[in-house]
Amino acid sequence: MNKKFTKIYNSIDENMTSAVPDYKDPFHLFYIATSSEKTPNIRTVVLRSFSMNKNFFEFHSDIRSPKIEQLNINSNFSALFYNPDKKIQLRFSGTTKILHKDASTKKRWAGISNSSRRCYLGPFNPSSTIEDDHPNIPDEFRFGDPMIEETEQGFENFVIVQCQFTSIDYLSLKYSGHSRCRFDFIGKNVSVCWLAP
Ligand SMILES: Cc1cc2nc3c(=O)[nH]c(=O)nc-3n(C[C@H](O)[C@H](O)[C@H](O)COP(=O)(O)O)c2cc1C
Repeated sequence: MNKKFTKIYNSIDENMTSAVPDYKDPFHLFYIATSSEKTPNIRTVVLRSFSMNKNFFEFHSDIRSPKIEQLNINSNFSALFYNPDKKIQLRFSGTTKILHKDASTKKRWAGISNSSRRCYLGPFNPSSTIEDDHPNIPDEFRFGDPMIEETEQGFENFVIVQCQFTSIDYLSLKYSGHSRCRFDFIGKNVSVCWLAP
């Protein structure tokens, strides 16, 4: 990789890594698209981890949600990040792995607050049709957090979606001229080429 590519590669690593704990960072939220039938589906999720060396990032979800069913049929994803302050767009593609009731999910679940755990205790399957407006958290926990022992059932629904990326499309917008390149990851090798913005 030449100096310019190395600089971009390192900036992606830094910007993605620092966005994980920072809810104000525009990269903290991203959009992930799946496609199991003819129509693509896209939704907002929260970035929970990132590793440039291992080529993956993760988000959390409920195993009962349609996105998980879609990813079980077709694990290919496209994920989009945009930082309007830096005017940088990153588009990742690759395949997902659903982690459920294993050592990683156990460890992650242990660090999730009782308040956030309520989201995995919903009586309804996420995205299912319901008769009336309902937040899909148990009524008794709407205005007060559950005790830790009351949250354990939520672990059954908790998944980590690991997005193993094989390419990153980088686009930087500038008045003086945009800049765009693509990194491709094949095994431990990284190849990169410039693209017309
Ligand atoms: C700001 C924001 C953050 C969200 N974060 C997540 C998340 O991390 N995981 C998740 O499963 N859904 C998250 N959602 C909800 C999804 O966007 C989506 O509405 C829901 O998961 C149902 O998606 P599905 O029907 O495609 O499975 C978030 C929504 C918003 C607006």
